[in-house]
Amino acid sequence: MSKINLDGLVAFLKEQGFIFQGSEIYGGLANSWDYGPLGVELKRNIKEAWWDKFVRNNKYNVGLDSAILMNKEVWVASGHIGSFSDPLIDCKKCHSRFRADKLIEDFTHGKVVGDGMSNEELKEFLVTNQIKCPTCGALDYTDIRQFNLMFKTHMGVIEDSKTEVYLRPETAQGIFVNFKNVQRTSRKKLPFGIGQIGKSFRNEITPGNFIFRTREFEQMELEFFCKPGTELEWFSYWRTFCMDFLKYVGINEEELRYRDHDKKELSFYSNATTDIEFNFPWGFGELWGIASRTNYDLNAHQNHSKQNLEYLDPDDNTRYLPYVVEPSVGVERMLLSILFSAYDEETDENGNTRVVLRLKPVVAPYKVAVLPLIKKNHADRAKSIYENYSKYFSTAYDDSANIGKRYRRQDAIGTPFCVTIDDETIQNSTVTVRDRDTMKQKKMLIEDVIPYILEKL
Ligand code: GAP
Repeated sequence: MSKINLDGLVAFLKEQGFIFQGSEIYGGLANSWDYGPLGVELKRNIKEAWWDKFVRNNKYNVGLDSAILMNKEVWVASGHIGSFSDPLIDCKKCHSRFRADKLIEDFTHGKVVGDGMSNEELKEFLVTNQIKCPTCGALDYTDIRQFNLMFKTHMGVIEDSKTEVYLRPETAQGIFVNFKNVQRTSRKKLPFGIGQIGKSFRNEITPGNFIFRTREFEQMELEFFCKPGTELEWFSYWRTFCMDFLKYVGINEEELRYRDHDKKELSFYSNATTDIEFNFPWGFGELWGIASRTNYDLNAHQNHSKQNLEYLDPDDNTRYLPYVVEPSVGVERMLLSILFSAYDEETDENGNTRVVLRLKPVVAPYKVAVLPLIKKNHADRAKSIYENYSKYFSTAYDDSANIGKRYRRQDAIGTPFCVTIDDETIQNSTVTVRDRDTMKQKKMLIEDVIPYILEKL
């Protein structure tokens, strides 16, 4: 379990400059969050790590950046306009609104999953199990109705039904509608995947738990196209690949688990789905969804657009719609899991507590901090070393307060190495390199620090 609870983490991240309340000086906008100087670096590093492993350095996959606003017919075909909704229920007494399935999941600590139950089954479960309104304690609910989660707006100057467009609720459909374009221009043969990172928007009924469930978030999605009949092998491949990635970015292995969807929970078009869940302070929650989606999406777009989306298999000259395996994860949920995993507090023999963010160097906002021991004697040399290191990796410079305090500050923001500049640097070009986790120090030549840190990345 993490050494910090949710409220503690929110306060810590604000204090250190990672994440602030959105629109704070106007009283905030509920459930919106802004990423400060350290948060934006951490977020970018997570996305870069995903892009490297899933796209840039991956022999199977290529990338895409599709538009957020798309033709309304995309969402008709994908089923989002018809059925991308959650079961909404109101408390008649205090008028609080809830997702009925989430009320059940919270009450049963995740043992009963509401997904897959009808509105009537959900209501009956609430009443039979006396699940009371979490706000006022009454057991007096309205009937359940479905609430569509898509944000609607208008394109252009006229606001009528013809100009209606939606903010995308997932990046995946931008990939499906470009399947032919990408396959033709990249000349990829099956199996191959298309990866995309971008913002998605959902008018969630109950956003919450900080950045876990928000109305604006970023997704990292891969649609992996393969020959029908091979999809379960690839499903298993990506299931393991995703788990390995989570360990690579520093998420505690013992806080992760797979949760396979049983028959009742599986979407009608899926023949296998797993969530990788993380043990958040409020319990296990979905971090990464991996679904074998058959040819459902390509088939829906082919039928609705009347465009042939079939693949011509050069091995046997047959034509078919590829099957798809989709690993889909939210950037913010990954960031939150990394932070809960990395946060640590240590007490030394004198009873002093040190906060350490044990971030993996690959995601840490700064890889190294350059610290002159005495400002007036060593700052000039330190600044030129800082400029040199900055060409290779993101580097911090700090010459305020005593060296002990500066080490603590870098420990708390997760900088894996501190390089101290002192008299010996001036005399013989050596620096002291301090390791964040062990606090051990070693002398190195100024220029040797660069390959030493690059190797850790
Ligand atoms: N294309 C498939 C898809 O979008 P999903 O399970 O709805 O599937 C995938 O979403 C992932 O996106 C989730 O596992 C989660 O990490 C993230 N996600 C979904 N809704 C979110 C929200 N409201 N806030 C933050 N992250 C969210």
